[in-house]
Amino acid sequence: MTQKILVTYASRSGSTSGVAEEIGKTLRKNGTVVDVLSMQAVKDLTPYDAVVAGSAIQAHQWLPEALQFVRENKLELRRKTFAAFLVCMTLAMRNGETYRLHVAEAFVPVRAQVQTVSEGVFAGALELGKIPSIGDRLKFGISVLLGVWPAGDSRNWPAIRAWAEGLQLK
Ligand SMILES: Cc1cc2nc3c(=O)[nH]c(=O)nc-3n(C[C@H](O)[C@H](O)[C@H](O)COP(=O)(O)O)c2cc1C
Repeated sequence: MTQKILVTYASRSGSTSGVAEEIGKTLRKNGTVVDVLSMQAVKDLTPYDAVVAGSAIQAHQWLPEALQFVRENKLELRRKTFAAFLVCMTLAMRNGETYRLHVAEAFVPVRAQVQTVSEGVFAGALELGKIPSIGDRLKFGISVLLGVWPAGDSRNWPAIRAWAEGLQLK
């Protein structure tokens, strides 16, 4: 039987959806059928053998809608192979790699619902013009000026593809 995989994401400014698309493209290379959908667009999990779910990080956590997706679908997700990823700016900091374990703490509430076979931690993109709240835009603008993290796209496509290639979703 052909394996069918769902890659699903929660994103506010589009960088996490781009990561999800790249994971989907990589998984399709070996002939697997892959759907890439926002969590809001997922209506039925039953057709899928495996689910790869990811979220942008805000305030050190998966987005609330992503945590809600896992909570609401936990029984179905527990019957499947489940992998998770996150997209954040901490990893794009100069010494970002040293925070990898700290950033991965965002998976704690996810693991509490569903066991993960793999967890991907990726740098994202900080597009100041796409941040809706003026306060947040100002805060992030200042942090960019102070050199905390870079503005723009810091997604590491080879790292994203390598993680997707290494996924054991059987
Ligand atoms: C309001 C806000 C809060 C954020 N909080 C964090 C954070 O706590 N840690 C972090 O590493 N990145 C944080 N980020 C950076 C985002 O995770 C990063 O820009 C990500 O690529 C956004 O994904 P999206 O484009 O899919 O929304 C924050 C961004 C915004 C706009």
